[in-house]
Amino acid sequence: MKKTDEPQLVSGCMRWGKWGKQLSKEQMASLINDLIENGIHFFDHADIYGEYTTEAEFGNAVKYLGMARQNYHICTKLGLQIPGEKRRTNIKHYQYDHDHIINSVNSSISKLDCEHIDALLLHRPSPLMNEMKVVQAINELKKAGRIRLFGVSNWNAFQLETMLSYTDIAFNQIELSLTNSNALENGTIDKMKEFGIKLMAWKPLGDLYQRNKDDKLVKAVDLIAYKYQVSSSTIMINWLLQLPLPVYPVFGSTNIERIKEMQKAYTFNINREEWFYLWEMARGKEVD
Ligand SMILES: NC(=O)c1ccc[n+]([C@@H]2O[C@H](COP(=O)([O-])OP(=O)(O)OC[C@H]3O[C@@H](n4cnc5c(N)ncnc54)[C@H](OP(=O)(O)O)[C@@H]3O)[C@@H](O)[C@H]2O)c1
Repeated sequence: MKKTDEPQLVSGCMRWGKWGKQLSKEQMASLINDLIENGIHFFDHADIYGEYTTEAEFGNAVKYLGMARQNYHICTKLGLQIPGEKRRTNIKHYQYDHDHIINSVNSSISKLDCEHIDALLLHRPSPLMNEMKVVQAINELKKAGRIRLFGVSNWNAFQLETMLSYTDIAFNQIELSLTNSNALENGTIDKMKEFGIKLMAWKPLGDLYQRNKDDKLVKAVDLIAYKYQVSSSTIMINWLLQLPLPVYPVFGSTNIERIKEMQKAYTFNINREEWFYLWEMARGKEVD
């Protein structure tokens, strides 16, 4: 099994429960088992997934499987407050007060039944955040062995810079794929490279599989996929893996055959001209 600091595919659990597939405990357990058997050991959560219900469902599935804690890694996120049954708030907002961070991590650990969190991320940057107080809470949690690595999600280069003046950042989880490559041009990836922040790329297939067959990018990806005798999702992941920093694609699929296709991305490398060809087709114009 790869360690948390070694780049690997990450299974995103956002759509496993109420927000998508509504898997039963047995189905979740079977999926976790299949993923582990296929070399995927890192699971991405957030307190909010399934309206604050998916972490606990995952925890129950893991307990049902009787899986040893050292056989998998957990990433989870906190900070979003969404009105509903589980949160007494009228307005969607961010909450990063010291006590909220501590309580939220304890709640996630208990729901996930996982003893510690391998990577804790702040879900979205907040204009009201006091970085010094956040880092104080994070350091307390690290010292108590509740979390191992600290990271952020959806942070831009400026926001990373501010947080970096208080602490190291292990991960930035951002949307990045051929169909949304803003982070490559707005300085976010450059800042991450400068400070050794690893990339967790959520939605790594972008909206490719929702586009029609005549779409320029779909055709281009198919062409390269044909050359390497793989599927289009393999090429989408392979394109991300060429970036010169550690890349952890966070996929959402629960279909093991699709996941196996994504894993083939680790068996070869598209060349530089192919990389730029795909990017040109995605952007609709050649680079300047
Ligand atoms: N940090 C953040 O702010 C943030 C935001 C959004 C998501 N995330 C993380 O990123 C993960 C992935 O995001 P996502 O679920 O939006 O992305 P995704 O990888 O695009 O998956 C979305 C869904 O697309 C379906 N799908 C349909 N056709 C497909 C095909 N041909 N190939 C692959 N998938 C296909 C999958 O269903 P099947 O199961 O049937 O394959 C899956 O449920 C989430 O689970 C979450 O962990 C993080």
